[in-house]
Amino acid sequence: MSELKRAGISLEKELLEQFDRLIKKKGYQNRSEAIRDLIRAELAKEGWESEEEAVGVLTVVYDHHLPDLTRKLTAFQHDFEHLVVSTLHVHLDHHNCLEAVVLRGKGKELQEFADKMISIKGVKHGQLLGTKALK
Ligand code: NI
Repeated sequence: MSELKRAGISLEKELLEQFDRLIKKKGYQNRSEAIRDLIRAELAKEGWESEEEAVGVLTVVYDHHLPDLTRKLTAFQHDFEHLVVSTLHVHLDHHNCLEAVVLRGKGKELQEFADKMISIKGVKHGQLLGTKALK
């Protein structure tokens, strides 16, 4: 861990009480660690839609009975093989499949990939969770 610096913050009593309840529920041992995580989350968001290197996981749910959909989704991923690190496929039930696609590349490209894959006809739901390597 790099050198620690102290930073004092002032906030309303009620806001602090709400924060303490929230972090207790989430399992934090102290405010410092909770605040560090909040800051890291904001820093990870910054530049997500930029040229910066990022990693993300896209999950999509679709009905594999739809004609040609499975083939389309596979072909789509092959078109972007430079972004796709790995894909996990789960047969959820008789109709539905879930795919989790691990992505690595420029944040902007990952967002575009996710938007396009989610908008393929037959994909019921999709969500991209992005992050970056932070110190
Ligand atoms: Ni399946």
